[in-house]
Amino acid sequence: MTTFKRTTVTAALIYANGPIHIGHLAGCYLPADIYVRYLRSIGHDVKFISGTDEHGVPITIKAKKEGITPQQVVDKYYTIIKDAFEEFGISFDIYSRTSNAIHHETSQEIFKNLYDKGQFVEEITEQYYDEKAQTFLADRYIIGTCPKCANENAYGDQCEKCGTTLSPTELINPRSALSGEKPVMKPTKNWYLPLDKMQPALEAYVNSHPEWKTNVMGQVKSWLNDGLRPRAMTRDLDWGVKVPLPDTDGKVLYVWFDAPIGYISMTKELTDQWATYWQDPETRLVHFIGKDNIVFHCLIFPAMCMADGRFILADNVPANEFMNLEGDKISTSRNWAVWLHEYLRAFEGQQDVLRYALAAAAPESKDSDFTWGDFQTRNNSELVGILGNFVNRAVVLTQKNFDAQVPARGELSDFDQQTLTTLAELPSKIGDAIAQYKFREALALMMDVARLGNKYLADTEPWKVVKTDLERTGTILNIGLQIAATLAIVSEPFMPFTAQKLAKALKLGQRTWAEAGQADLLATGTSIETPGLLFSKIEDATIQAQIQKLQDAKKMNELAGKEVQAIKDTTQYDDFAKMDIRIGTIEAAEKVAKSKKLLKLTVNDGIKQRTILSGIAEHFTAEEVVGKQVTFLANLAPRPMMGMVSEGMILMAEDKDGSLAFVQPSKEVWNGATVA
Ligand code: 2FM
Ligand code: ZN
Repeated sequence: MTTFKRTTVTAALIYANGPIHIGHLAGCYLPADIYVRYLRSIGHDVKFISGTDEHGVPITIKAKKEGITPQQVVDKYYTIIKDAFEEFGISFDIYSRTSNAIHHETSQEIFKNLYDKGQFVEEITEQYYDEKAQTFLADRYIIGTCPKCANENAYGDQCEKCGTTLSPTELINPRSALSGEKPVMKPTKNWYLPLDKMQPALEAYVNSHPEWKTNVMGQVKSWLNDGLRPRAMTRDLDWGVKVPLPDTDGKVLYVWFDAPIGYISMTKELTDQWATYWQDPETRLVHFIGKDNIVFHCLIFPAMCMADGRFILADNVPANEFMNLEGDKISTSRNWAVWLHEYLRAFEGQQDVLRYALAAAAPESKDSDFTWGDFQTRNNSELVGILGNFVNRAVVLTQKNFDAQVPARGELSDFDQQTLTTLAELPSKIGDAIAQYKFREALALMMDVARLGNKYLADTEPWKVVKTDLERTGTILNIGLQIAATLAIVSEPFMPFTAQKLAKALKLGQRTWAEAGQADLLATGTSIETPGLLFSKIEDATIQAQIQKLQDAKKMNELAGKEVQAIKDTTQYDDFAKMDIRIGTIEAAEKVAKSKKLLKLTVNDGIKQRTILSGIAEHFTAEEVVGKQVTFLANLAPRPMMGMVSEGMILMAEDKDGSLAFVQPSKEVWNGATVA
């Protein structure tokens, strides 16, 4: 096992085309932040690098959708994303962007180096071209039917329905995402990284890391088993980092070539010592990402680094799986998400509740589910009921009985001793779990510290002992406060806002992880303050409001998904003229027994009263339709229904939400008026 002098931690450079949601946090940014905060707390040299990925088709597609330029898209979302992360306490050392000049220069320099070293294979291939938009169609610009699952909206690089990685030519019935036109094939030159030739070196690299998570290894091995293929590192697009070679107008670097180099260029922006963090073999490189980025970080970026020869390779890529929301896949386009910036507004000052709930349900080994019900329980039962309750009792009893000063510790009982021994063991267990990327386990162990304190006070009952034995009460509270002090240290990676409040109230000062668990963190006589309510109960109504918001999103989505039906095949005038459409008045109406849908209407057609059975009972009561003038088809062949005969059909318009409206003349007309 290598011992490292320092660690470079990266968190995925998210596309700057939308805000951050809980899935991103649980999958990547929160575990990365916990890891980095822990490393800082043990005094390890660490740099935490991230930012936005501002190139690639996802950005240009968004620009087209919003009717703004790609630059406007990335400017807008960079700020939203950066601010939300900051408020949530994700403690990057730098949060930058791939549109910065330093990034363009760095990725061009690396591309040029690979080119000069002869690492690319230059190839002219036939690629899809949109003649109307006069542009080649890379990756997501091309849409078609997935050959695996028949999804009609699969992208040229991936089918989001079945997850298959695709190439544009595999799509059935391809069409341009820009114009909707059928594309043509046109030759173009691109530069390929020969991953096929690099496979043995990549296999050796992967095999040297048997400790990688099973979910990560599973994906990597499956790619390797399928056999790697050369991959184009350039694209025929306008938006991106220009290819630094002559005669390459209209060509940019493949977004997955420049994006991971962003980690390097951002480190350059952060420190003059950047090379130490990227080139020294005594630096450990760890990439935090979601599962959709595994192949790029475990195979393609390492292949680039190997080919370049100057950079270290990742020691670990602790990718998480996906987090669902209320049993359904999180989806930006369907607005099925909890957006971080919205959470921060709705739950002001409660960052740590979400941090706790997400860390507790993080999709570490398999997909997990976030529900608002669980969120409420985690807060009310665990954070308020255990952690908050324990700290509050220890502090309040000290204020009340010892003038808010840490009381002296007298003789210790066996139970006191046992408690202190357990306390002393917990911090290293928590640290070990974090170091092994087992954040859920680490979080549970951190809560064990609070549980230990809560149980200790519940068992020793200082509120009762105080009536007879003040000295013993002092010993109990001293131990309780030492536990609270350890909690202030070990909760910091998970809940930094709470940890800070607690440390401040206990006058703990800056402490390291190594000090956690010690029985004398707080000196006798230290004046403590109240940290205030660390957590407060979240009411049902608050949770209900969030659930309602999701239900509203679902509804909006269903409506938005409805499209105007295609016009039916052409009909001839003579056929239309055969239809006798007229106006009449409903003079009586009643619900048809044993039918949910039918109303029996008596319609005055100007000649006689006729019976029309209409399937509108789920939309209108009998009372409300009486007196209405309606449009009806008068010469429809009589139809027997429910033992009666319907003599025509009322014409109704169906609105987007499925509700019905009568088709009526714009002014009252005589019954029997014809419609033509
Ligand atoms: O999936 C994404 O949002 C990508 N933009 C992640 C890139 S990570 C890295 F390579 F920069
Ligand atoms: Zn598919």
